[in-house]
Amino acid sequence: MTTTRMTSETPGTAAAGHDALQRSRYGEVYARWRSDPEWFWEEAARDIDWIKPADRIFDPASGIFGRWFVGAECNVCYNALDRHVERGRAGQAALIYDSPVTGTIRTFTYHELRDEVATLAAVLQDMGVAKGDRVILYMPMIPEAVFAMLACARIGAIHSVVFGGFAARELATRLEDAAPKVVLSASCGIEAARVVPYKPLLDEAISLSSHKPETCLIYQRPQAEARLAEGRDRDWAAAVTDARKAGRMAPCVPVAATDPLYVLYTSGTTGRPKGVVRDTGGYMVALKWSMKNLYGVDPGEVYWCASDVGWVVGHSYIVYGPLLHGCTTILYEGKPVGTPDAGAFWRVASEHKAVVLFTAPTAFRAIKKEDPDARLLQGYDLSEFRALFLAGERADPDTVQWAERILGVPIVDHWWQTETGWPIAGNPLGLGALPIKYGSPTVPMPGYDVQVLDEGGKPLPADTMGSIAIKLPLPPGCLPTLWHADERFREAYLTTYPGYYNTSDAGFIDGDGYVYIMGRTDDIINVAGHRLSTGGMEEVLASHPAVAECAVIGVKDSLKGEVPCGFVVLKAGVAQSPAAVETELVGLVRERIGPVAAFKLAITVGRLPKTRSGKILRGTMKKIADGETWTMPATIDDPVILDEIGDALRRRGMGEGP
Ligand code: COA
Ligand code: AMP
Repeated sequence: MTTTRMTSETPGTAAAGHDALQRSRYGEVYARWRSDPEWFWEEAARDIDWIKPADRIFDPASGIFGRWFVGAECNVCYNALDRHVERGRAGQAALIYDSPVTGTIRTFTYHELRDEVATLAAVLQDMGVAKGDRVILYMPMIPEAVFAMLACARIGAIHSVVFGGFAARELATRLEDAAPKVVLSASCGIEAARVVPYKPLLDEAISLSSHKPETCLIYQRPQAEARLAEGRDRDWAAAVTDARKAGRMAPCVPVAATDPLYVLYTSGTTGRPKGVVRDTGGYMVALKWSMKNLYGVDPGEVYWCASDVGWVVGHSYIVYGPLLHGCTTILYEGKPVGTPDAGAFWRVASEHKAVVLFTAPTAFRAIKKEDPDARLLQGYDLSEFRALFLAGERADPDTVQWAERILGVPIVDHWWQTETGWPIAGNPLGLGALPIKYGSPTVPMPGYDVQVLDEGGKPLPADTMGSIAIKLPLPPGCLPTLWHADERFREAYLTTYPGYYNTSDAGFIDGDGYVYIMGRTDDIINVAGHRLSTGGMEEVLASHPAVAECAVIGVKDSLKGEVPCGFVVLKAGVAQSPAAVETELVGLVRERIGPVAAFKLAITVGRLPKTRSGKILRGTMKKIADGETWTMPATIDDPVILDEIGDALRRRGMGEGP
């Protein structure tokens, strides 16, 4: 990629000052980490209960780039539940399930949650699940999803949660790769007004996968009961009732700190997702540290992350982080708008006295669009509410300023990835807030040596755009490898810049050390805070018999940030009309990848613009579609094709210049 020196037009550079930077403890804490990383994480690890302490805090000779807390034994579920029950939080709310789509609010104390989890863990053991076995969860946002994750953690099984908005084929890929002994699922999810039956998707996925789980435990929801398959499927409620009657509760099983807690699949540069492995000990240490120091939250307070347990944000900050810290966490089965209106977030935050909310910027754009004057905020008491955290995509300054104006609290953009498991950069409220610069997720967290590199891997000076990389080793909590794919891990992340982890994000760092994330360097796009591969969508389009070639790009969208747009060239002699093929292609992506891909734009063109060596000029097409200024690439084969693309876009009301 090319490197560009950022100018005074760089967003929001005016707000910060060196005095304010020094008032926070951030500088001192970051420097302490830099001077002795092992000591820093050893200190942080004191907040975790270990069955056996680590022989080595960091062992550079273990794993691919070293491993954290080698030799230690622990259990995440014990740290998230049992120890709070034993030490005075038994009667405190651990989990509040707030579901506007079913009209339900249910609270589970730490004691109740521990018992639910221990009982379900016993059910899993009865089904033959043991330490190291994989369990796939394909679940909506119901308490049973949280019980299931923690039940796996309790017995040392490795969970792999698959987001409900993915289609059967995506689920099948994950079944194939993770080879789970058991699948935990529910009969349906509820998408505002639409009931989404999960069981037919699960059945189809199992038939597509060569790996077959031994058992599927199905939680029946009244909105759409599922038919259970003889022999393979079991009724969740009945199994739990039987275990409860028999007084069965599984104890916590000790695991190595380096054992996997979960595998979470995320979009890679092809249709084949990457199985991000999360270890046990390092993850606990990093999350616990972040709860107080980054989010500024204390045990006993109510923490709300309005994401989904199918995403990394849900794993870390709906389930594990808040519970490890002894907070009350909210599981929200609803949307920012439409359940029932754009005041939903204010209702939940005030009703449960949340001190922070963590969501994606797109959720706030949706609220702003429906209720620009925030009239629906009136009447809600948000006096306990201290900060809004945004991640998943760049927080655009307009949305941040709007949120700041209506809420009157710090709006904290923070940057991270499925791979890292916790924020790489943020504004550490617990250490003392740093001045906010709009457009920047602020500064690197301890553990992360973030650098901007040129194409040759040389660090670039301040304010210069380049590839963002993290000097190895990655801190505790980050992925040690990909599931059964060490070589793919090396290739995908470590070989481009030797000695660094390549984030595949591009951006710059300013003179105050503030990080700016401006976009991806690969084919990943961010649609409503959901990470998707355009390469994966191209594979689906190319599989249509009428398509000769195709290119998918992410185009700007005022609500979702980006939406995919597919350009297709049809084979000569295709009998169907272009419009009919386009409709089929939209349906095909929904069927193969899922509704979450939000693929609604397929455009037939005569030719695709290419370089003389045959590379499709996706970057230029994106600029044209976004109405940005673009220059004719020197290597273009036939410049006229770009005019044709512009014309095709204009016919759809897109691509008008600035
Ligand atoms: N199960 C089944 N379908 C799902 C689903 C799930 N768990 N989640 C989303 N979908 C479907 C939606 O119903 C929608 O279907 P449609 O095409 O029939 O309308 C489609 O997938 C696209 O979903 P989405 O992109 O989320 O759009 P939306 O219009 O439903 O909602 C927002 C828009 C902005 C309200 C919503 O995207 C949102 O709340 N985003 C926040 C994202 C977030 O929290 N990300 C986590 C990172 S922090
Ligand atoms: P995911 O793995 O789904 O969390 O997506 C990670 C990607 O989302 C990152 O690599 C970024 O491209 C993008 N992203 C996440 N948070 C931010 C942020 N605060 N600012 C800019 N981009 C972000």
